Amino acid sequence: MADSEFAATQWWQTGVIYQVYPRSFQDTDGDGVGDLRGITARLDYLVGLGVDAVWISPFYPSSMADFGYDVTDYTGVDPLFGTLEDFDALLAAAHAKGLRVILDFVPNHSSDQHPWFVESRSSRECPKRDWYLWHDAAPPGEDWRPAPERVPNNWMSHFGGPAWTWDEGKQQFYLHSFLKEQPDLNWRNPEVRAAIYAAMRFWLDRGVDGFRMDVLWLLIKDEFFRDNPPNPVYDGAQHDVKRVLPVHNADQSETQEIVAEMRAVLDAYGPTMGAANGGSSRVLIGEIYLPLPKLVRYYGAVPQLSGANLPFNFHLIQTRWAADAIADVIRSYEALLPAGAWPNYVLGNHDQPRLASRIGAQQARAAAMLLLTLRGTPTMYYGDELGMADVAIAPEQVRDPAEKNEPGKGRGRDPERSPMLWVSAPNAGFTRPDATPWLPLEKGWETENAAAQSQRPKSMLVLYRKLLALRRQHDTLHSGAIADVEAEGSVLRFRRVGLADGESTDFQVLLNLGMEVATVKCAAGTVVLTTLLDGEGSRVGGAVTIEGGEGLLIALG
Ligand code: GLC
Repeated sequence: MADSEFAATQWWQTGVIYQVYPRSFQDTDGDGVGDLRGITARLDYLVGLGVDAVWISPFYPSSMADFGYDVTDYTGVDPLFGTLEDFDALLAAAHAKGLRVILDFVPNHSSDQHPWFVESRSSRECPKRDWYLWHDAAPPGEDWRPAPERVPNNWMSHFGGPAWTWDEGKQQFYLHSFLKEQPDLNWRNPEVRAAIYAAMRFWLDRGVDGFRMDVLWLLIKDEFFRDNPPNPVYDGAQHDVKRVLPVHNADQSETQEIVAEMRAVLDAYGPTMGAANGGSSRVLIGEIYLPLPKLVRYYGAVPQLSGANLPFNFHLIQTRWAADAIADVIRSYEALLPAGAWPNYVLGNHDQPRLASRIGAQQARAAAMLLLTLRGTPTMYYGDELGMADVAIAPEQVRDPAEKNEPGKGRGRDPERSPMLWVSAPNAGFTRPDATPWLPLEKGWETENAAAQSQRPKSMLVLYRKLLALRRQHDTLHSGAIADVEAEGSVLRFRRVGLADGESTDFQVLLNLGMEVATVKCAAGTVVLTTLLDGEGSRVGGAVTIEGGEGLLIALG
């Protein structure tokens, strides 16, 4: 492949994205919930860690039924998190330190308290009547049931139960892909599009560096509201949403048109920091849970011009943690990427069990090396750099509506949203000593916090800092090609290949994703980093022995 295909000119290609869940990062006002001033106070930590951009989950005014993913005003800040001035101060401080800021935008649905929905439900004649997806009750069958029981079709909510709720006033159902407090906007209505694009411009004008678009693949639904086919393998233990296959309410082809429009909104803006260097200076990221062949369509017809810059690739989260399976994902993804598309990988987020709990503490170290040595933009989740694990949540501590609606089905997302662990002091420095954090702290915070791990030369935090520094330092790691992705027994191996300027280093990555020691062949080189943080600088060649869960980064030559 030509080197030009790998050319990375934009910060969102060469950089690393760090997700902050604002409720859980740093509280400054003592209410036990994190806030924007807290993020500002911790920017130096992010700079020291070595990331390039911070993606902040929603902080807009919200009814908080889904903790910010139910927006009541797309152009403000919820008092819980601070003020618009606090946001401007955060953005200015971040930019002054060389950090980008990406907002989480929620275009698929608003809160049912949003003035748009309040108006839309007020009558069948009001101007905003078609801003949401309203539908009459299904016609009565022979087993006559009242209209409120006759849902228009069999679509299910991602948070349990039918995706339709009856509105007494309007005598119609409205669609909600998530909670009934999160009605879906009607993206076939040009006024809705214009209103959302105006809200995006509000933030772009203030200088934000891009958006992570919530559930981008769900925006458009079948215009005839056809029933979904039943899921032949539904077993009753799975979540309600799995009862049917999402043929008619997800990944509709018209979604691509909207993605292109969103991209055009962003591409009208120049860079926020530094000089323009062509291409997109503000980034469009899409939250998209789809198989790879469908996912890559979200790069658009001409990735340099149209689709999402980074359609989030969640396949490292969803794939069995084994060398052959992961090698397969990387190879298939690379093969499927359209020309001009830039890859990306995500290892964790606020909707998924913590990495360390999914695969274990030792393997989480190998995963860190994998994420930060692959070709493509890495996105990491706050606290993963400390090896944070899921926190046990007692029934009375449950906050997540997904868990409340479908208890015991493993939906609960509270375990991965526990407060960031900063120091060995009460409440781990997350909030004031006398405050009560909104979710419990992870056990062991007294020693496994950022300050304590900074002092321990072999800690997870030190490993992350070293990996991030190496990725930044070496063009090959952030912009080079990837080659020879293979599984050799339990070992996942690939090479990173420098640009053809004769000066860059090539790297061999070897990751033992199994539990047992393994020995594999390796070309001659010098160990630059091991995930156990021992043995750096040693020469290898011929064969190397790797502990279970260990990873090696070797500079070849
Ligand atoms: C996305 C968010 C998730 C939220 C849902 C509904 O999947 O990541 O946290 O609950 O959308 O907005």
